[in-house]
Amino acid sequence: MLKDIRNNYQQNELLEKDVKENPLEQFRIWLDESLRSKVNEPTAMVLSTVDGQNRPHARVVLLKEQNSQGFVFFTNYSSAKAGHIAINRFASLTFFWPELERQVRIDGSIERISGKLSDEYFASRPVDSRLGAWASPQSQVISSKSVLDESFSKYRKKFGDEIPRPQNWGGYLVIPYQIEFWQGRPNRLHDRICYQLEKNGWKIVRLAP
Ligand SMILES: Cc1cc2nc3c(=O)[nH]c(=O)nc-3n(C[C@H](O)[C@H](O)[C@H](O)COP(=O)(O)O)c2cc1C
Repeated sequence: MLKDIRNNYQQNELLEKDVKENPLEQFRIWLDESLRSKVNEPTAMVLSTVDGQNRPHARVVLLKEQNSQGFVFFTNYSSAKAGHIAINRFASLTFFWPELERQVRIDGSIERISGKLSDEYFASRPVDSRLGAWASPQSQVISSKSVLDESFSKYRKKFGDEIPRPQNWGGYLVIPYQIEFWQGRPNRLHDRICYQLEKNGWKIVRLAP
């Protein structure tokens, strides 16, 4: 029964005295621990955007870079999510690393990265992924699966192995103003350490679970 599924979390704890002053450094530590712990899909994150009618939409994307500014993922600039971002420049990212009983919630503003950086990442992708970016009109209704197969073959013939980046494909950077680190604890008394960006830098608070 669904109502009987219940875990008691007890692997780790998160204390104010142990966290970094900068949440991006703290995130790096947790991400590295996820990578080392062989978490399934450690870079998968739920990206939430809001459309022109103030309705939220969420889907999984992959984190491809984390730097001192924020978090980068790649997608189609003609997709539904890109339409939302063009209207509303705020977005959230959510990581869930069940093997470590951890969640990270990131709220920030979002902007496109430069064409040059998108070119660099696109060039590093396998040939078939690059062709897929051309072949799929992401988020649009298609009449059948064969439309994609035909489109893929068409671009394979057209480009061979020299595949340029489509103009409507590239990266976004999420620049955080709030990041919360959640560590599961026994008896539902979880640790929630939240960083909030203020004029003078990051303020660290503890939230009730
Ligand atoms: C594990 C996983 C990883 C994904 N990674 C990406 C990604 O990096 N970029 C992307 O555009 N879509 C990715 N997707 C697909 C998205 O979830 C989504 O279906 C797609 O981006 C279209 O979303 P939209 O119509 O809201 O724009 C991924 C899906 C899964 C399940």
